[in-house]
Amino acid sequence: MMAENQDFHNKSGMYFLLGSMVFVIMFFIYVVVFHKGVDLGEKFEAPPSTDAPVYDLASEKEPWVSNENIVSAGAKIFKQNCATCHGEKGNLVGGVPNARNLVVGQWTQGEGIMNHFKVLQNGIKDAQGNQTAMVSFSAQLKPFERWAVLYFIETLTNNKSKDKPEDVASFAQTAQ
Ligand code: HEC
Repeated sequence: MMAENQDFHNKSGMYFLLGSMVFVIMFFIYVVVFHKGVDLGEKFEAPPSTDAPVYDLASEKEPWVSNENIVSAGAKIFKQNCATCHGEKGNLVGGVPNARNLVVGQWTQGEGIMNHFKVLQNGIKDAQGNQTAMVSFSAQLKPFERWAVLYFIETLTNNKSKDKPEDVASFAQTAQ
């Protein structure tokens, strides 16, 4: 009698154990497969991606043909190398008075982007042949950087280059 009773208890214990195991497994499957996660009402902002592609001006195949990336790279070059004299916006505001107002664009060394390129190559000498404050940038700026800064100036000057793209392209092959 005693033994039978024990046997009965063991069996129901076994069913209970099996039942809870099945429940745990089903719950696990539900959580893993179906449940979309717990919404705590918090908004997570993805941190700014650190592996965003960095624009590389040096890899431009034709840096003498303007595009958006070249102009914005040129804006940085201008800020670093030219703004102290010509002003942040090229209009001499915050610059030095005897530098050229690039927005007005009364060019003395010839019109157009090819002549500007030569200015960056050679600097400007005064009538007596003395070096002005506008020195050569050929040591500081590589040709592709000079094209970039000049295409930035093209976006702010009122006296824009009328040089033909094909002339600029063939000039650029030899310009150092
Ligand atoms: C130290 C001051 C100084 C800095 C820096 C400077 N410039 Fe000049 N720039 C001048 C002066 C001064 C003139 C006018 C020279 C003259 O004709 O007597 C000038 C003239 C010019 C001209 C006019 C050319 C023409 O035909 O009239 C251009 C274009 C120019 N600069 C571009 C640049 C660029 C691009 C940079 C930066 C890479 C730069 N400058 C940096 C002082 C500066």
